[in-house]
Amino acid sequence: MRKRNPLVVGLDVGTYKIGVIVAELTESGVEITGIGTAVSRGLKKGVVVNIDATVESIRRAVDEAELMAGCEIRSVTAGVAGCHLKGVNMHGVVAVKSREVGPGDVERVIDTARAIPLPADREVLHVLPQEFIVDDQDGIKEPVGMAGVRLEARVHIVTGSISTGQNLVKCCNRAGLHVRDVLGGPLAAAEAVLTPEERELGVALVDLGAGTTSVSVVHAGALRHTAVLPVGGGHVTNDLAAALRTPFGEAERLKQRHGSAVVQTASVEQTIEVAGLGGRSPYLLSRRALADVIEPRAEEMLLLVKREIERAGCDGLLTSGVVLTGGGATLAGLTELADHVFHVPVRLGVPLHLTGLVDAVASPMYSTAVGLVLHGLRQQSSGAARSGDGVRGQIGVVRQRMVEWLREFF
Ligand SMILES: Nc1ncnc2c1ncn2[C@@H]1O[C@H](COP(=O)(O)OP(=O)(O)OP(=O)(O)O)[C@@H](O)[C@H]1O
Ligand SMILES: [Mg+2]
Repeated sequence: MRKRNPLVVGLDVGTYKIGVIVAELTESGVEITGIGTAVSRGLKKGVVVNIDATVESIRRAVDEAELMAGCEIRSVTAGVAGCHLKGVNMHGVVAVKSREVGPGDVERVIDTARAIPLPADREVLHVLPQEFIVDDQDGIKEPVGMAGVRLEARVHIVTGSISTGQNLVKCCNRAGLHVRDVLGGPLAAAEAVLTPEERELGVALVDLGAGTTSVSVVHAGALRHTAVLPVGGGHVTNDLAAALRTPFGEAERLKQRHGSAVVQTASVEQTIEVAGLGGRSPYLLSRRALADVIEPRAEEMLLLVKREIERAGCDGLLTSGVVLTGGGATLAGLTELADHVFHVPVRLGVPLHLTGLVDAVASPMYSTAVGLVLHGLRQQSSGAARSGDGVRGQIGVVRQRMVEWLREFF
Protein backbone atom coordinates (compact mmCIF):
# COMPACT_ATOMS: atom_id res chain seq x y z
CA MET A 1 0.00 0.00 0.00
CA ARG A 2 1.35 3.40 -0.89
CA LYS A 3 2.11 5.83 1.87
CA ARG A 4 -0.61 8.45 2.13
CA ASN A 5 0.26 12.09 2.47
CA PRO A 6 -1.57 14.24 5.00
CA LEU A 7 -4.87 15.59 3.68
CA VAL A 8 -5.40 19.29 3.21
CA VAL A 9 -8.87 20.83 3.39
CA GLY A 10 -10.11 24.07 1.82
CA LEU A 11 -13.21 25.70 3.31
CA ASP A 12 -15.00 28.38 1.29
CA VAL A 13 -17.66 30.04 3.40
CA GLY A 14 -19.74 31.80 0.77
CA THR A 15 -23.03 33.69 0.82
CA TYR A 16 -24.77 31.03 -1.29
CA LYS A 17 -22.98 27.83 -0.41
CA ILE A 18 -20.31 26.40 1.87
CA GLY A 19 -17.76 24.46 -0.17
CA VAL A 20 -15.33 21.98 1.36
CA ILE A 21 -12.63 20.30 -0.70
CA VAL A 22 -10.32 17.58 0.60
CA ALA A 23 -7.11 16.94 -1.31
CA GLU A 24 -3.81 15.16 -1.10
CA LEU A 25 -0.51 15.67 -2.90
CA THR A 26 0.39 12.49 -4.82
CA GLU A 27 3.00 11.61 -7.48
CA SER A 28 0.44 12.47 -10.16
CA GLY A 29 -0.37 15.87 -8.67
CA VAL A 30 -3.12 17.31 -6.53
CA GLU A 31 -5.70 14.59 -5.99
CA ILE A 32 -9.18 15.61 -4.89
CA THR A 33 -10.54 12.97 -2.50
CA GLY A 34 -13.64 14.58 -1.07
CA ILE A 35 -16.16 17.35 -1.65
CA GLY A 36 -18.91 18.69 0.58
CA THR A 37 -21.44 21.41 -0.17
CA ALA A 38 -24.18 22.89 1.93
CA VAL A 39 -26.59 25.74 1.42
CA SER A 40 -25.17 28.70 3.28
CA ARG A 41 -27.29 30.33 5.95
CA GLY A 42 -25.94 33.08 8.13
CA LEU A 43 -23.94 35.20 5.67
CA LYS A 44 -24.67 38.48 3.95
CA LYS A 45 -22.45 39.84 1.18
CA GLY A 46 -19.73 37.33 2.04
CA VAL A 47 -19.66 38.21 5.74
CA VAL A 48 -20.93 36.20 8.74
CA VAL A 49 -24.03 37.82 10.24
CA ASN A 50 -25.41 34.81 12.13
CA ILE A 51 -22.86 32.62 13.91
CA ASP A 52 -25.14 29.68 14.81
CA ALA A 53 -26.59 29.35 11.31
CA THR A 54 -23.11 29.58 9.76
CA VAL A 55 -21.71 26.94 12.13
CA GLU A 56 -24.53 24.59 11.22
CA SER A 57 -23.99 25.11 7.48
CA ILE A 58 -20.23 24.58 7.83
CA ARG A 59 -20.81 21.38 9.81
CA ARG A 60 -23.18 19.99 7.17
CA ALA A 61 -20.68 20.63 4.35
CA VAL A 62 -17.81 19.19 6.40
CA ASP A 63 -19.82 16.07 7.30
CA GLU A 64 -20.50 15.45 3.62
CA ALA A 65 -16.85 15.89 2.68
CA GLU A 66 -15.75 13.59 5.51
CA LEU A 67 -18.11 10.91 4.30
CA MET A 68 -16.83 11.13 0.73
CA ALA A 69 -13.15 11.29 1.64
CA GLY A 70 -13.50 8.68 4.40
CA CYS A 71 -11.59 10.81 6.88
CA GLU A 72 -12.10 13.09 9.82
CA ILE A 73 -11.56 16.77 9.09
CA ARG A 74 -9.86 18.59 11.92
CA SER A 75 -8.14 21.57 10.33
CA VAL A 76 -8.90 23.74 7.31
CA THR A 77 -7.54 26.55 5.20
CA ALA A 78 -10.40 29.04 5.20
CA GLY A 79 -11.20 31.87 2.82
CA VAL A 80 -12.27 35.26 4.07
CA ALA A 81 -14.55 37.24 1.77
CA GLY A 82 -16.55 40.45 1.73
CA CYS A 83 -16.34 44.05 0.63
CA HIS A 84 -14.06 44.95 3.54
CA LEU A 85 -11.17 43.33 1.64
CA LYS A 86 -9.10 46.00 -0.06
CA GLY A 87 -5.89 45.95 -2.03
CA VAL A 88 -3.35 48.77 -2.14
CA ASN A 89 0.04 49.06 -3.84
CA MET A 90 2.94 50.26 -1.70
CA HIS A 91 6.61 50.93 -2.09
CA GLY A 92 9.56 50.55 0.30
CA VAL A 93 13.27 51.46 0.15
CA VAL A 94 16.24 50.36 2.30
CA ALA A 95 20.01 50.70 2.10
CA VAL A 96 21.88 47.43 1.48
CA LYS A 97 24.52 47.32 4.18
CA SER A 98 26.91 44.69 2.86
CA ARG A 99 26.63 45.73 -0.81
CA GLU A 100 25.03 42.37 -1.57
CA VAL A 101 21.31 41.84 -1.03
CA GLY A 102 20.68 39.26 1.69
CA PRO A 103 17.43 37.68 2.94
CA GLY A 104 17.48 40.13 5.87
CA ASP A 105 17.46 43.10 3.45
CA VAL A 106 14.47 41.62 1.64
CA GLU A 107 12.54 41.20 4.88
CA ARG A 108 13.45 44.75 5.92
CA VAL A 109 12.33 46.29 2.65
CA ILE A 110 9.04 44.38 2.77
CA ASP A 111 8.48 45.47 6.36
CA THR A 112 9.09 49.07 5.25
CA ALA A 113 6.65 48.75 2.35
CA ARG A 114 3.93 47.18 4.49
CA ALA A 115 4.05 49.86 7.15
CA ILE A 116 0.78 51.54 6.20
CA PRO A 117 -1.38 53.46 8.64
CA LEU A 118 -4.52 51.44 9.33
CA PRO A 119 -7.58 52.12 11.48
CA ALA A 120 -7.71 50.01 14.66
CA ASP A 121 -10.35 47.69 13.21
CA ARG A 122 -8.32 46.68 10.13
CA GLU A 123 -5.41 44.34 9.63
CA VAL A 124 -2.90 43.49 6.90
CA LEU A 125 -3.83 40.05 5.57
CA HIS A 126 -1.29 39.55 2.81
CA VAL A 127 1.80 41.32 1.54
CA LEU A 128 2.55 40.19 -2.00
CA PRO A 129 5.77 41.38 -3.64
CA GLN A 130 5.37 42.62 -7.20
CA GLU A 131 8.97 43.43 -8.03
CA PHE A 132 12.26 44.45 -6.47
CA ILE A 133 14.52 47.21 -7.69
CA VAL A 134 18.25 46.99 -6.93
CA ASP A 135 19.90 50.36 -7.52
CA ASP A 136 18.31 51.28 -10.87
CA GLN A 137 17.57 47.78 -12.11
CA ASP A 138 13.85 47.07 -11.90
CA GLY A 139 11.74 43.98 -12.63
CA ILE A 140 13.71 41.73 -10.26
CA LYS A 141 11.80 38.79 -8.75
CA GLU A 142 14.56 37.31 -6.62
CA PRO A 143 17.03 39.96 -5.41
CA VAL A 144 18.98 37.82 -2.91
CA GLY A 145 22.66 37.63 -3.93
CA MET A 146 22.57 40.67 -6.22
CA ALA A 147 25.16 43.42 -5.80
CA GLY A 148 23.81 46.86 -4.95
CA VAL A 149 23.53 49.58 -2.33
CA ARG A 150 19.83 50.35 -2.49
CA LEU A 151 16.93 47.89 -2.46
CA GLU A 152 13.37 48.87 -3.30
CA ALA A 153 10.24 46.73 -3.18
CA ARG A 154 6.87 47.23 -4.78
CA VAL A 155 4.20 45.22 -2.98
CA HIS A 156 0.48 44.66 -3.10
CA ILE A 157 -1.08 44.70 0.34
CA VAL A 158 -4.48 43.18 1.06
CA THR A 159 -6.16 44.47 4.20
CA GLY A 160 -9.38 43.40 5.85
CA SER A 161 -11.65 43.91 8.82
CA ILE A 162 -10.31 42.23 11.97
CA SER A 163 -13.71 41.33 13.41
CA THR A 164 -14.91 39.76 10.16
CA GLY A 165 -11.88 37.44 10.17
CA GLN A 166 -12.43 36.71 13.83
CA ASN A 167 -16.07 35.79 13.26
CA LEU A 168 -15.10 33.42 10.48
CA VAL A 169 -12.51 31.68 12.66
CA LYS A 170 -14.99 31.59 15.52
CA CYS A 171 -17.55 29.79 13.30
CA CYS A 172 -14.93 27.25 12.19
CA ASN A 173 -13.83 26.65 15.79
CA ARG A 174 -17.42 26.17 16.90
CA ALA A 175 -17.88 23.69 14.07
CA GLY A 176 -14.98 21.73 15.59
CA LEU A 177 -12.36 22.89 13.09
CA HIS A 178 -8.93 24.30 13.65
CA VAL A 179 -8.06 27.05 11.16
CA ARG A 180 -4.56 26.51 9.80
CA ASP A 181 -4.60 29.57 7.66
CA VAL A 182 -6.89 32.32 6.40
CA LEU A 183 -6.59 33.50 2.82
CA GLY A 184 -8.44 36.29 1.04
CA GLY A 185 -11.03 34.65 -1.23
CA PRO A 186 -10.04 36.56 -4.40
CA LEU A 187 -6.46 35.33 -4.04
CA ALA A 188 -7.63 31.75 -3.62
CA ALA A 189 -9.81 31.83 -6.74
CA ALA A 190 -6.93 33.30 -8.77
CA GLU A 191 -4.68 30.50 -7.57
CA ALA A 192 -7.10 27.84 -8.84
CA VAL A 193 -8.09 29.08 -12.28
CA LEU A 194 -5.38 31.24 -13.85
CA THR A 195 -2.72 29.78 -16.13
CA PRO A 196 0.94 30.86 -15.79
CA GLU A 197 0.70 32.61 -19.20
CA GLU A 198 -2.32 34.63 -18.09
CA ARG A 199 -0.57 35.68 -14.89
CA GLU A 200 2.46 36.82 -16.87
CA LEU A 201 0.66 38.61 -19.73
CA GLY A 202 -2.00 40.22 -17.58
CA VAL A 203 -5.52 39.16 -16.69
CA ALA A 204 -8.49 40.19 -14.56
CA LEU A 205 -10.08 37.43 -12.55
CA VAL A 206 -13.70 38.19 -11.74
CA ASP A 207 -15.29 35.91 -9.14
CA LEU A 208 -19.05 36.34 -9.32
CA GLY A 209 -20.56 34.99 -6.12
CA ALA A 210 -24.07 35.40 -4.78
CA GLY A 211 -23.56 38.52 -2.66
CA THR A 212 -20.17 39.75 -3.81
CA THR A 213 -18.05 40.02 -6.93
CA SER A 214 -14.31 40.12 -6.46
CA VAL A 215 -11.85 41.53 -8.96
CA SER A 216 -8.17 40.60 -8.99
CA VAL A 217 -5.78 41.91 -11.61
CA VAL A 218 -2.61 39.86 -12.08
CA HIS A 219 0.19 41.09 -14.35
CA ALA A 220 3.86 40.13 -14.74
CA GLY A 221 3.26 37.27 -12.30
CA ALA A 222 2.07 39.52 -9.48
CA LEU A 223 -1.14 40.84 -8.06
CA ARG A 224 -1.75 44.48 -9.06
CA HIS A 225 -5.25 45.13 -7.77
CA THR A 226 -7.84 43.54 -5.46
CA ALA A 227 -11.36 44.76 -4.78
CA VAL A 228 -14.66 43.23 -3.72
CA LEU A 229 -17.92 44.76 -4.96
CA PRO A 230 -21.25 44.32 -3.16
CA VAL A 231 -23.07 42.78 -6.13
CA GLY A 232 -23.59 39.18 -7.26
CA GLY A 233 -25.89 36.53 -8.66
CA GLY A 234 -28.25 37.02 -5.72
CA HIS A 235 -29.19 40.43 -7.12
CA VAL A 236 -30.20 38.86 -10.42
CA THR A 237 -32.41 36.40 -8.52
CA ASN A 238 -33.91 39.22 -6.44
CA ASP A 239 -34.76 41.15 -9.60
CA LEU A 240 -36.43 38.08 -11.09
CA ALA A 241 -38.44 37.40 -7.93
CA ALA A 242 -39.68 41.00 -7.87
CA ALA A 243 -40.35 41.32 -11.60
CA LEU A 244 -42.08 37.95 -11.98
CA ARG A 245 -43.83 38.09 -8.59
CA THR A 246 -42.55 34.68 -7.67
CA PRO A 247 -40.82 33.28 -4.53
CA PHE A 248 -37.04 33.67 -4.31
CA GLY A 249 -36.51 29.89 -4.57
CA GLU A 250 -38.55 29.71 -7.75
CA ALA A 251 -36.70 32.73 -9.22
CA GLU A 252 -33.39 30.96 -8.48
CA ARG A 253 -34.59 27.78 -10.18
CA LEU A 254 -35.80 29.69 -13.25
CA LYS A 255 -32.53 31.60 -13.50
CA GLN A 256 -30.41 28.47 -13.31
CA ARG A 257 -32.52 26.33 -15.66
CA HIS A 258 -33.84 28.81 -18.19
CA GLY A 259 -32.05 32.13 -17.60
CA SER A 260 -29.82 33.90 -20.11
CA ALA A 261 -27.73 37.05 -19.91
CA VAL A 262 -28.30 37.78 -23.60
CA VAL A 263 -31.82 38.78 -24.63
CA GLN A 264 -31.17 38.25 -28.35
CA THR A 265 -30.43 34.53 -28.00
CA ALA A 266 -33.39 33.78 -25.70
CA SER A 267 -36.37 32.25 -27.48
CA VAL A 268 -39.69 34.11 -27.60
CA GLU A 269 -41.61 30.92 -28.43
CA GLN A 270 -40.22 28.73 -25.65
CA THR A 271 -42.39 29.16 -22.57
CA ILE A 272 -41.83 28.18 -18.97
CA GLU A 273 -44.17 27.84 -16.04
CA VAL A 274 -43.70 30.31 -13.19
CA ALA A 275 -45.11 29.63 -9.71
CA GLY A 276 -47.17 32.52 -8.33
CA LEU A 277 -46.70 34.20 -4.98
CA GLY A 278 -48.81 33.26 -1.95
CA GLY A 279 -50.74 30.41 -3.55
CA ARG A 280 -51.61 32.34 -6.74
CA SER A 281 -51.86 30.09 -9.77
CA PRO A 282 -48.81 29.53 -11.95
CA TYR A 283 -48.53 31.31 -15.28
CA LEU A 284 -46.52 30.97 -18.49
CA LEU A 285 -43.64 33.20 -19.51
CA SER A 286 -41.27 33.18 -22.49
CA ARG A 287 -37.54 32.67 -22.01
CA ARG A 288 -37.07 36.03 -23.71
CA ALA A 289 -39.08 37.72 -20.93
CA LEU A 290 -36.80 36.09 -18.38
CA ALA A 291 -33.71 37.33 -20.19
CA ASP A 292 -35.27 40.80 -20.38
CA VAL A 293 -34.96 40.97 -16.59
CA ILE A 294 -31.57 39.27 -16.31
CA GLU A 295 -29.56 41.07 -18.99
CA PRO A 296 -29.67 44.63 -17.62
CA ARG A 297 -28.63 43.54 -14.13
CA ALA A 298 -25.86 41.26 -15.44
CA GLU A 299 -24.59 44.07 -17.67
CA GLU A 300 -24.66 46.51 -14.77
CA MET A 301 -22.54 44.16 -12.64
CA LEU A 302 -20.00 43.71 -15.42
CA LEU A 303 -19.88 47.48 -15.96
CA LEU A 304 -19.16 47.98 -12.26
CA VAL A 305 -16.27 45.54 -12.59
CA LYS A 306 -15.00 47.34 -15.69
CA ARG A 307 -15.15 50.69 -13.92
CA GLU A 308 -13.27 49.26 -10.94
CA ILE A 309 -10.49 48.01 -13.21
CA GLU A 310 -10.31 51.39 -14.98
CA ARG A 311 -10.38 53.31 -11.69
CA ALA A 312 -7.38 51.27 -10.52
CA GLY A 313 -5.57 52.13 -13.79
CA CYS A 314 -5.32 48.44 -14.68
CA ASP A 315 -7.31 48.43 -17.94
CA GLY A 316 -4.09 48.49 -19.96
CA LEU A 317 -2.79 45.33 -18.26
CA LEU A 318 -5.31 42.82 -19.57
CA THR A 319 -3.45 41.28 -22.51
CA SER A 320 -4.90 37.86 -21.63
CA GLY A 321 -8.33 39.35 -21.11
CA VAL A 322 -10.83 38.54 -18.40
CA VAL A 323 -11.56 35.24 -16.66
CA LEU A 324 -15.00 34.86 -15.10
CA THR A 325 -15.47 32.40 -12.27
CA GLY A 326 -17.72 31.79 -9.22
CA GLY A 327 -21.23 30.32 -9.41
CA GLY A 328 -22.60 33.55 -10.88
CA ALA A 329 -20.40 33.05 -13.95
CA THR A 330 -22.35 29.91 -14.90
CA LEU A 331 -25.29 32.04 -15.97
CA ALA A 332 -25.93 31.18 -19.63
CA GLY A 333 -24.65 33.84 -22.01
CA LEU A 334 -22.63 35.74 -19.40
CA THR A 335 -19.27 35.18 -21.11
CA GLU A 336 -20.77 36.45 -24.36
CA LEU A 337 -22.17 39.54 -22.63
CA ALA A 338 -18.82 40.15 -20.93
CA ASP A 339 -17.08 40.05 -24.34
CA HIS A 340 -19.17 43.06 -25.37
CA VAL A 341 -18.62 44.91 -22.09
CA PHE A 342 -14.85 44.45 -21.73
CA HIS A 343 -13.78 44.35 -25.41
CA VAL A 344 -11.08 41.80 -24.52
CA PRO A 345 -11.19 37.98 -24.73
CA VAL A 346 -13.31 36.50 -21.91
CA ARG A 347 -13.30 32.89 -20.74
CA LEU A 348 -15.00 30.90 -18.03
CA GLY A 349 -12.51 29.81 -15.34
CA VAL A 350 -12.79 26.43 -13.65
CA PRO A 351 -10.23 24.85 -11.28
CA LEU A 352 -7.17 23.57 -13.17
CA HIS A 353 -4.37 21.01 -12.77
CA LEU A 354 -6.15 18.47 -10.59
CA THR A 355 -6.56 14.70 -10.45
CA GLY A 356 -9.03 12.48 -8.56
CA LEU A 357 -12.62 13.68 -8.41
CA VAL A 358 -11.92 16.28 -11.09
CA ASP A 359 -15.38 16.21 -12.67
CA ALA A 360 -17.06 16.96 -9.37
CA VAL A 361 -15.05 20.15 -8.84
CA ALA A 362 -14.94 21.22 -12.49
CA SER A 363 -17.30 24.10 -11.79
CA PRO A 364 -16.60 27.82 -11.37
CA MET A 365 -18.42 27.49 -8.04
CA TYR A 366 -15.50 25.56 -6.56
CA SER A 367 -12.69 27.88 -7.67
CA THR A 368 -12.23 29.49 -4.25
CA ALA A 369 -12.39 26.21 -2.31
CA VAL A 370 -9.88 24.58 -4.69
CA GLY A 371 -7.60 27.62 -4.46
CA LEU A 372 -7.66 27.31 -0.68
CA VAL A 373 -6.65 23.66 -0.95
CA LEU A 374 -3.82 24.51 -3.35
CA HIS A 375 -2.60 27.19 -0.98
CA GLY A 376 -2.82 24.76 1.95
CA LEU A 377 -0.86 22.12 0.03
CA ARG A 378 1.82 24.64 -0.87
CA GLN A 379 2.11 25.70 2.75
CA GLN A 380 2.33 22.07 3.78
CA SER A 381 4.98 21.11 1.25
CA SER A 382 7.13 24.13 2.03
CA GLY A 383 6.64 23.58 5.75
CA ALA A 384 5.77 27.24 5.84
CA ALA A 385 3.96 27.43 9.14
CA ARG A 386 6.35 30.26 9.92
CA SER A 387 5.21 33.76 9.28
CA GLY A 388 7.04 36.14 6.95
CA ASP A 389 8.98 33.26 5.47
CA GLY A 390 10.57 35.14 2.63
CA VAL A 391 9.91 35.72 -1.00
CA ARG A 392 8.90 32.86 -3.23
CA GLY A 393 7.63 34.81 -6.20
CA GLN A 394 3.88 34.02 -6.49
CA ILE A 395 0.55 34.83 -4.93
CA GLY A 396 0.60 33.96 -1.24
CA VAL A 397 4.26 34.68 -0.90
CA VAL A 398 5.02 36.44 2.32
CA ARG A 399 2.79 34.85 4.94
CA GLN A 400 1.32 37.23 7.37
CA ARG A 401 0.72 36.98 11.02
CA MET A 402 -3.02 36.79 10.83
CA VAL A 403 -3.34 33.13 11.77
CA GLU A 404 -0.98 33.42 14.71
CA TRP A 405 -2.74 36.55 15.73
CA LEU A 406 -6.17 34.96 15.51
CA ARG A 407 -4.94 31.97 17.48
CA GLU A 408 -3.79 34.29 20.19
CA PHE A 409 -7.16 35.94 20.22
CA PHE A 410 -9.23 32.78 20.64
N1 LIG B 1 -26.58 27.44 -13.37
C1 LIG B 1 -26.55 28.65 -12.87
N2 LIG B 1 -26.97 29.71 -13.60
C2 LIG B 1 -26.95 30.94 -13.11
N3 LIG B 1 -26.52 31.27 -11.89
C3 LIG B 1 -26.08 30.27 -11.11
C4 LIG B 1 -26.06 28.92 -11.54
N4 LIG B 1 -25.56 28.17 -10.54
C5 LIG B 1 -25.30 29.00 -9.54
N5 LIG B 1 -25.61 30.27 -9.86
C6 LIG B 1 -25.49 31.47 -9.03
O1 LIG B 1 -24.21 31.52 -8.47
C7 LIG B 1 -24.26 32.24 -7.24
C8 LIG B 1 -23.47 31.47 -6.20
O2 LIG B 1 -22.14 31.43 -6.58
P1 LIG B 1 -21.02 31.01 -5.53
O3 LIG B 1 -21.31 29.68 -4.99
O4 LIG B 1 -19.71 31.23 -6.19
O5 LIG B 1 -21.31 32.10 -4.42
P2 LIG B 1 -20.72 32.21 -2.96
O6 LIG B 1 -19.26 31.97 -2.99
O7 LIG B 1 -21.51 31.37 -2.03
O8 LIG B 1 -21.07 33.73 -2.65
P3 LIG B 1 -20.09 34.96 -2.30
O9 LIG B 1 -18.79 34.70 -2.98
O10 LIG B 1 -20.80 36.16 -2.81
O11 LIG B 1 -20.00 34.94 -0.81
C9 LIG B 1 -25.73 32.36 -6.87
O12 LIG B 1 -26.16 33.69 -7.02
C10 LIG B 1 -26.43 31.45 -7.86
O13 LIG B 1 -27.68 31.97 -8.24
MG1 LIG C 1 -17.53 33.10 -3.28
